[in-house]
Amino acid sequence: MKLLKFDCIDSTNTYGKANFDTLDDKTVIIANEQTKGRGRFNRVWVSKNCENIYLSLVLKPQNTKYITNLTQYMSVVSADVLKTYNVQPQIKWPNDVLVNNKKICGILSEGVIKNNQLSGIVLGIGINLNMDDKTLNSIDRPATSLNIETGKQINKEEFLKKLIDSFFENYNNAMQNGFEYFKNDYLKYVDFLGKTVFIQQRDNDKKEQYIAKNIDNQGNLVVLDSTNKEKIIYSGDLIY
Ligand code: BTN
Repeated sequence: MKLLKFDCIDSTNTYGKANFDTLDDKTVIIANEQTKGRGRFNRVWVSKNCENIYLSLVLKPQNTKYITNLTQYMSVVSADVLKTYNVQPQIKWPNDVLVNNKKICGILSEGVIKNNQLSGIVLGIGINLNMDDKTLNSIDRPATSLNIETGKQINKEEFLKKLIDSFFENYNNAMQNGFEYFKNDYLKYVDFLGKTVFIQQRDNDKKEQYIAKNIDNQGNLVVLDSTNKEKIIYSGDLIY
């Protein structure tokens, strides 16, 4: 595993994608600050220099069958590490991690296609470890940070080590077996099943109302529509 550290960069994901060919498999890219931190749905990821985690992994597995499940695997790994700080993480499908219903961790996976074939992914993760109220309030949706939740400054190096070690501990198993391998762990953090939820495909789209029924063995969300008909949701933003 190689570690690349930057003080300030536009985005660790952008760097990972731009240099994908020359970077080794399992390269970890870390920055103290990002000037163009990106989230899902083209949202901005606030990336100030405040001892938060901004990290991307360059992953080039031989077998890419379960590669899309890596975001959900990473959400479980992050929730497990957050739990060691005595907070109670929740996973909001597919891969947001919340504490007290506020987002603390976001994951952005970007596939890299070469000659019409998926050659790997850049798996980016941002975790709010040490933020002040003012910066958190500037985020346009409910967000929190581990220092606020615990009342203590968080040691970033310690958190990073736990995160990277736990990710690689079960990475091969997750890649060989897919979502089923960690489904039970994922479900431990889920608290929206049985509830009325809304799904939005992208910002400003219509919100569709369902009852969340289940997570299937592939990690998709199974919902019931207003006529009690089952529908499988493969992607989108969950609101509840
Ligand atoms: C989301 O929840 O919308 C995903 C946020 C992902 C943020 C991380 S921070 C490190 C990496 N670099 C980026 O520009 N984005 C990801």
